[in-house]
Amino acid sequence: MNVTVIGLGYVGLTTAAALAELGHCVVGVDIDNVKIEKLNRGDVPVWEPELAPLIAKNRQAQRLAFTTDVHNAASQADVILVAVGTPAGPEGKPDLTQLERAVSDLTDCLPSDALLIIKSTVPVGTTDQIATRLQRDVVHNPEFLRQGSAVHDFFHPDRIVIGCESKWAAGRMCRLYQGITAPMIVCDRRSAEMIKYTANAFLAMKISYINMIADLCESLDANVEDVARGIGADHRIGHAFLQAGAGYGGSCFPKDTQALLYMGAQTGCSLPLVESADQINQLRPRRLVTKAERALGTLSGKRVALLGLTYKPQTDDVRSAPSIAVSRMLLEKGAEVHAYDPRARRFPVQQVAISPDVDTAVRDVDAVMILTEWDEFRHMDWKRLLPTLRCPVIIDGRNLYRLEEMRELGTTYPLHYLSVGR
Ligand code: UGA
Repeated sequence: MNVTVIGLGYVGLTTAAALAELGHCVVGVDIDNVKIEKLNRGDVPVWEPELAPLIAKNRQAQRLAFTTDVHNAASQADVILVAVGTPAGPEGKPDLTQLERAVSDLTDCLPSDALLIIKSTVPVGTTDQIATRLQRDVVHNPEFLRQGSAVHDFFHPDRIVIGCESKWAAGRMCRLYQGITAPMIVCDRRSAEMIKYTANAFLAMKISYINMIADLCESLDANVEDVARGIGADHRIGHAFLQAGAGYGGSCFPKDTQALLYMGAQTGCSLPLVESADQINQLRPRRLVTKAERALGTLSGKRVALLGLTYKPQTDDVRSAPSIAVSRMLLEKGAEVHAYDPRARRFPVQQVAISPDVDTAVRDVDAVMILTEWDEFRHMDWKRLLPTLRCPVIIDGRNLYRLEEMRELGTTYPLHYLSVGR
């Protein structure tokens, strides 16, 4: 099929390249000239494992091309996917400006037999409105790609959700994803939109739940990792998303929980579980900073190294990362902040001094705070590094090290090691 993908962020770009790999003829469209020029030169504007070779391979096979010309691309398409961003606006209300623009651009060039698919995460009812406006069946097909493993997730989904009205649309969706083995969940458009928010909010709740229990474990001298192992073995609970730590960040969980709360407020429906998940998460950075403050007596005039700025490993994204709130709090309390991250490119807190490597970041600091579980930090030689610190305090916000290993290290070197919930 001829496929057009509008919006080339990590979701749109991954989807475009992966659909080309499935054998479709795909054109990726974006309004950002610079991005399209880059892609046409063979540069990939987002860092996503496996994506660059997939794009290169399919461009070479002439199944994948990029343009800013939406009219030309859409007018020849059998299927058009919209994957533009829907960032959080005031009060958590999703900002649909990019989506509105994309749909307006399509109104006069959409072939009568083309299927329009909304992939962007949108408030319940949005796809219905678009269908009414365009007077045709429009599909809502939410994405469940994780940044850092988006390509893998595309080819191995747990399910494909198709929100539509007609058998014709559902049939075309099956053709689009032919080659991928996964249950197809066909439902109405509103339920499909709801599935996306509910899934992300549920995962966010799981994380906040284990973080809440981690705090209690600290008070009661239990070990949250053993607790997570013990409850996760119950298949009704499962092991995933029970890693206690600095809390969730990124462009999805914080935004989608806020959006769900906004929809609740709009309809007079309170969502206390989601609200608590959000509140617990917002308190995670403070909890870590307090640990550092207690260990050092004061943070004023102290030098602190942050290891990990991205919201999780395998990405260069720092959006809503715990590192942002942690840095701001440390600076407010008068600390000098140094940081190192293997991938992060831009960091929004200007006063943070970015170091080129771990050694430089931790040299002469009073405390090290680990905020992202990059492998590089997991395998660090603390025996060599500890003597270079001014004060041997490690606040491990991701529970990277075994307690015994740190206890043993503490017998040879002075060390104050604090982790989460154990
Ligand atoms: C999330 C979902 O997992 C995807 O299914 C979804 O498609 C995507 O949002 C989206 O809506 O676009 P993503 O934000 O890329 O994907 O990252 P996750 O791997 O889900 O991690 C989210 C955050 O939770 C990270 O900050 C991570 O450090 C944190 N986390 C995760 C924990 O603190 N503990 C855990 O046990 C798991």
